[in-house]
Amino acid sequence: MNEKIKILVVDDEKVIRDGCSRVLSGKGYDVITAENGQAALDVLAKEPLDIILLDLKMPVMSGEEVLEITGEKYPDIPVIIITGHGTVDTAVECMKKGAYDFITKPFQIDQFLLIITRAAEKRNLEQKARQFEQENIRNLYDLNLEKSRLKTIINYMGNGVMVTNRNLEVVLHNPALMRLMEISEEVENPAPISTIIHDESLINTLKQIQGGESSENESISQEINAGANVLRAISAPALGPDSSVVGTVTVIEDITAFKQLDQMKTDFVNMVAHELRSPLSAIKQQNHVLLEGLCGPLGEKQHEFVSRGSNRIDSLLELINDLLDVAKIEAGKYVQRLVPTDIGKVIEETIALMDSKAKEKGIDLSFSFKNLKPVQADPKNIEEIFNNLISNAINYSPEGGKVTVTAQGQGEYMEIRVEDTGVGISPEELPKIFDKFYRVKHPKTRQVIGTGLGLAIVKGIVDAHHGTIDVESVVDKGTTFRILFPVMA
Ligand SMILES: Nc1ncnc2c1ncn2[C@@H]1O[C@H](COP(=O)(O)OP(=O)(O)OP(=O)(O)O)[C@@H](O)[C@H]1O
Ligand SMILES: [Mg+2]
Repeated sequence: MNEKIKILVVDDEKVIRDGCSRVLSGKGYDVITAENGQAALDVLAKEPLDIILLDLKMPVMSGEEVLEITGEKYPDIPVIIITGHGTVDTAVECMKKGAYDFITKPFQIDQFLLIITRAAEKRNLEQKARQFEQENIRNLYDLNLEKSRLKTIINYMGNGVMVTNRNLEVVLHNPALMRLMEISEEVENPAPISTIIHDESLINTLKQIQGGESSENESISQEINAGANVLRAISAPALGPDSSVVGTVTVIEDITAFKQLDQMKTDFVNMVAHELRSPLSAIKQQNHVLLEGLCGPLGEKQHEFVSRGSNRIDSLLELINDLLDVAKIEAGKYVQRLVPTDIGKVIEETIALMDSKAKEKGIDLSFSFKNLKPVQADPKNIEEIFNNLISNAINYSPEGGKVTVTAQGQGEYMEIRVEDTGVGISPEELPKIFDKFYRVKHPKTRQVIGTGLGLAIVKGIVDAHHGTIDVESVVDKGTTFRILFPVMA
């Protein structure tokens, strides 16, 4: 018993009241007494009680009357009827009217206590059941509140939300999703995925997640188009209690404005680069005329300054050309002329041009070919790839290093590796080096001048030729770039 059970003893005989009080208090119960029915009702009105011991024959108000009233007002309190031998029938009658039990005078203490204990247990169990029920109601209420909050949040979110079940049917979607997907008619859940999502690549991603092909904590981000909208969809598995995949969750964000802004920025950079190229080329030409002495001889100092200026113009033109290359790659207009190309020859030519630069740094630059096969490519582009990879290998290697270029036919592919013994790239930096303008900050390569466009161009060219490029690197040991090009059928 967590709390003391309170018992009300109602009897007009003082001996009984006192006797009950003594015995029950001795057993740890709280006892209150009343000498007649009315007094008992007064007590009940004032404080909560657990058990009533009720004599039937009393002045003022009989036990039966009291039982009727308590039965109505306090149906949960068990009432035990106290009765003399002659009134057992009446006691039985009372039980039919709702009394819990009865006990005959004079009391057998053991029996008396047994009845009280049982009533107390009943009272306790009932109270617990009631508590439990109330808690249940409260939990249900909280759950519903939580659900309705969540529903409100999801419904008013600016981002689209979609949840699918095991059969890849949509079981939850919000108004933002429908707006972003440009669907105006109502869709009832569960709905086949194709009623809402028309982008095959997203459906494939969801199938892949559903099939457990992506890892649990991984989300897959992809760009999709829906009407005039450019959207980013981030999808992840929905996991059941046993961590199995029970569906998918996708959040969809509108990135149309960012895309437009990005396009404006690119257009602007291209326009500026383009406009700068002609005057810079003209200045370069004029400097050349000056340096060649075609406008009269230059003094030593004059020659030095003009040629320094020319070098600066060269690097500016290089930057501008890189920017324009990136723009062309992004517009898909870079690879123009696909012809059978001998990669070995392009590598040899590029290395010949790089050799003096390598020698300056005491770098051993070598190549080897095996099983060469022609690839369908634009030779100018391929040259650009090796220009960038080999110059990087030289630039980011300390003096006395080694750079090796190998090309090898491997079934349907040509595998080309550019290996160096340079400073290496840390694992955190590796995924970023193909980004435009990304350069690793490294104390040993701070003096290398560059714009961070080389590898972006390389990646763009490789992609345009349906090839792949990957990179492995160990800091302070060296880096290997590996390209696979499909060979000609
Ligand atoms: N072989 C390499 N070894 C170590 N770090 C490298 C290597 N190649 C590239 N990197 C790192 O990756 C970055 C990006 O290379 P990327 O060629 O794109 O640009 P860049 O060489 O800095 O400039 P540029 O546009 O003139 O080529 C470099 O700044 C360098 O930090
Ligand atoms: Mg570079």
